[in-house]
Amino acid sequence: MSLSKINAMIGRGEKVAMLTCYDATFAKLSEAAGVDMLLVGDSLGMVLQGAENTLNVSIEDMEYHTKSVAAGTIACSIMTDMPAGSYELSKETALLNAKRLIAAGADIVKIEGGGEMVNTAQYLIEHGVPVCAHLGFTPQSVKQLGGYRIQGKTEESAQNILQDAVAMDKVGVRFVLLEMVPALLAKTITESINAPTIGIGAGADCDGQVLVIQDLLGIYTGPASKKPEAFKSPRFAKNFLAENSPGNCSIQSAVQAYVEAVKNNAFPGKEHSY
Ligand code: KIV
Repeated sequence: MSLSKINAMIGRGEKVAMLTCYDATFAKLSEAAGVDMLLVGDSLGMVLQGAENTLNVSIEDMEYHTKSVAAGTIACSIMTDMPAGSYELSKETALLNAKRLIAAGADIVKIEGGGEMVNTAQYLIEHGVPVCAHLGFTPQSVKQLGGYRIQGKTEESAQNILQDAVAMDKVGVRFVLLEMVPALLAKTITESINAPTIGIGAGADCDGQVLVIQDLLGIYTGPASKKPEAFKSPRFAKNFLAENSPGNCSIQSAVQAYVEAVKNNAFPGKEHSY
């Protein structure tokens, strides 16, 4: 599915169902289950590599997994994360690395943060690379943000996120992904910008939703170094596999249930939002 088809879908009022994906088997399965967009997220540092955070994922890792995902899908658009350290140093380095991901099969790249990153996004877009801006909780800044915390709770920080979204929209980003922000702020942003919003822990009013596949299946139990019992799944995650009827308990039907819930506005509920 091309990015313009995704935009047409949103124009018709249909919600976009996005899911993380890191290999060809899950790409094929997700496509068959009706997922619109696959996110090759740098969350792979945590869910595949077992790390505490996403900070050590390399551009080569992202290239490799983007190629694997691209091999498994014809119909889904592919968004790939630019990993930490691949786009902050200079606009030129960002462009070289973004082109590697596009050559590997990405339709669009995602960068984290507003502020100075607005110029980087503009430079990439001017050089023909479609960009998604990731705002709110930005996992690559987990250390600066003091942990996995909801963002935009105070009036000042909400205004900052809104301003970043408006600035990113002005330079032509194709999507704004909002992570762990109050539902009301996500609604305001969605109504204030042209670019569609994709939410994760950002309430039901975004134009689309994304989940990490391991969260959708309820199989992520924290970093390799920690005991599974110590892990508390985030509020925004929902285990769609657990909700399958016993006679219909497959990964494919769990992914299908997620897609249907997004399309019918049944997910996320208030219990998954802030
Ligand atoms: O890397 C990732 O999976 C992401 C999602 C959390 C949105 O960026």
